[in-house]
Amino acid sequence: MAVLITGGCGYIGSHTCVEMVKAGFDVVVADNYHNAKSGVQQRIVALAGKEIPFYTCDIRKETDLIPIFEQHDIQAVVHFAGWKAVGESTVLPLAYYDNNISGTVTLCKVMQRFGCHRLVFSSSATVYGEENPAPLREQMPVGKVANPYARTKLFNEQILQDLCIANEKFSAVILRYFNPIGAHESGTIGEDPNGIPNNLMPYISQVAIGKLPYLQVFGDDYPTHDGTGIRDYIHVVDLANGHVAAVKYAMAHCGAQIINLGTGIGYSVLDVVTAFEKATNIKIPYQVVPRREGDVTIYLADPTKAKELLGWQAQYDLETMCRDTWRWQQNNPNGYEE
Ligand code: NAD
Ligand code: UFG
Repeated sequence: MAVLITGGCGYIGSHTCVEMVKAGFDVVVADNYHNAKSGVQQRIVALAGKEIPFYTCDIRKETDLIPIFEQHDIQAVVHFAGWKAVGESTVLPLAYYDNNISGTVTLCKVMQRFGCHRLVFSSSATVYGEENPAPLREQMPVGKVANPYARTKLFNEQILQDLCIANEKFSAVILRYFNPIGAHESGTIGEDPNGIPNNLMPYISQVAIGKLPYLQVFGDDYPTHDGTGIRDYIHVVDLANGHVAAVKYAMAHCGAQIINLGTGIGYSVLDVVTAFEKATNIKIPYQVVPRREGDVTIYLADPTKAKELLGWQAQYDLETMCRDTWRWQQNNPNGYEE
């Protein structure tokens, strides 16, 4: 019996492989390395302390997926494989719909063919849009989603709910992530963005290591305590453990569940800068620039449902997230390299 992890060589997937094995699961990984380096494999195995079968597999291709299901008794799938760059999705909408939506449909078809009915899916807080007030709760209506990437998450959520209605054996745990940051405490796996990072934490850590001169703070005129945007940052290892709990839940229940994975605590951009400086003793120079298009004032989870249904809650604080990010950045100034 094994759990298939699609996109298991990526940022969140690599940490989830390690935590799944630590929790006693056998895992099998499928990744096409579109946004991962093969060097991550040996690091995952070293942390997991156990051999893991890795398949070069594009989830859009049944012919890539079928041999995996033939060779392993796959009981559940944790589905990370997808593209995630918001800006790129506005330029390449068809490619995003193809990869993120066709990929999920093909995966589910192959799962059904092999009698595998348990899926945990990576969704995003972005589906709440800007209309809903914080803290965001799962039963709130989804918001107006602003870009093709966000729409792929929304459509996938709907597809999985439809599948659960049509097939009463199917179980889909749809996890809405807030802002994952940090890295494994070993400093051997972490986030390895291509080029100049879009997201706050990798940008700060590249400023700290001297690759970038200063942080641009996107707007200080938001209605928050210091004028900068507020997010619910969650340690990637906490997030990974949320998946372990979600797989256990999916094994025991049928139907679709949408569940937030966040801490319930919000920090502004300047709070994060201060926490990073405190955790690392490194000054982060910054300049305030105009707001970034599409950004909202605040994204904050109500994490109650995750606690009630999954028995899961986040453990790590912001300082630990900063310290672990910095350890990863220092040990791997050029990411996984190849
Ligand atoms: P990532 O890019 O690091 O990992 C995704 C992995 O999927 C990569 O290893 C990539 O090579 C692989 N992949 C992509 N398309 C594939 C395909 N067709 N077949 C096989 N493998 C494929 O991203 P991540 O940050 O680890 O995110 C994982 C998932 O979580 C994504 O679906 C993403 O949209 C979602 N998510 C991420 C965040 C975030 O802030 N990181 C927030 C919300 C949701
Ligand atoms: N920010 C800066 N400067 C930067 C980068 C970010 O000031 O260089 C600010 C943003 O304006 C925002 C905060 O830092 O206020 C966080 O921004 P990120 O880009 O790190 O994260 P987002 O909240 O914009 O988006 C992330 C993922 C999305 C996902 C969303 C869901 O990138 O894919 O979380 O919560 F949809």
